[in-house]
Amino acid sequence: MENLLVSENREKLKFLITYPLFDHNTFDSRMRELLSLDICSIFSFGKVQLHNIFILGKGSVGLVTLVKNRRKFFVLKIRRTDANRINMYDEVVYQSLANSIGIGPFLVNYSENFILMEFVRGLNILDWYGQKNTEIDRILKCTISILEQCFLLDCLKLDHGQLNRTDRHIIISKEGNPTILDFETSSTRRRPSNVTSISQGIFLHGPIFSRLKGTIDNDRSHSIRCIKDYKMDMRREKFEKILSLFRI
Ligand SMILES: Nc1ncnc2c1ncn2[C@@H]1O[C@H](COP(=O)(O)OP(=O)(O)O)[C@@H](O)[C@H]1O
Ligand SMILES: [Mg+2]
Repeated sequence: MENLLVSENREKLKFLITYPLFDHNTFDSRMRELLSLDICSIFSFGKVQLHNIFILGKGSVGLVTLVKNRRKFFVLKIRRTDANRINMYDEVVYQSLANSIGIGPFLVNYSENFILMEFVRGLNILDWYGQKNTEIDRILKCTISILEQCFLLDCLKLDHGQLNRTDRHIIISKEGNPTILDFETSSTRRRPSNVTSISQGIFLHGPIFSRLKGTIDNDRSHSIRCIKDYKMDMRREKFEKILSLFRI
């Protein structure tokens, strides 16, 4: 894997850490930040191509790359220079809060423009659910784990904020363990809607719903009622009514 921190890759590194608007001051100060995080390699690696380098992911706030700090691989999320926020601190706060109950990629370190975190290996949720030969028990177990994680976030009063867009914000490991990603639009100031958002894509429509056909209660209006009841009164008892929509 190509290491962008070696001197012959300087131009690629400049492009990456100041994307999309290069300027010398930003580059210099971000290089100092990188040093403070003790990162020894930034790799051109991943499925997303950005000009002449590869990265793990690209969002509206960050570029996500594979890095090495001492002897372990991690993920480095780099604030885009055109992001609609001036630093990464809110995301750090919410990701740490999620980590406090075992949710999300484990936060390792951070600075103004970077977040260093656990590298979550696996497939994006749509690719994982799209695999043909996964046994239904494994699929159900994973789906219930996603719902349980959302319930824990609801209990913590941390609203993820983007769980209606599951395709980009859940990675599932080979073993079928899901990890919820990206706490950049999270908040503790709104009413949490993690379970209700994710439930739409599980019980009402979309590719996950289609894959789960046959294992979910056919009575759509009953499903809607259970989700609404939970929304009104977010207790475990109501959450279990949602879980009982699975015919198991
Ligand atoms: N910890 C991680 N491990 C592996 N891949 C990740 C990790 N964090 C993010 N990604 C990948 O990068 C993409 C963009 O990350 P995200 O945090 O959603 O950025 P943004 O806040 O800019 O939307 C994700 O959809 C995912 O594919
Ligand atoms: Mg995102």
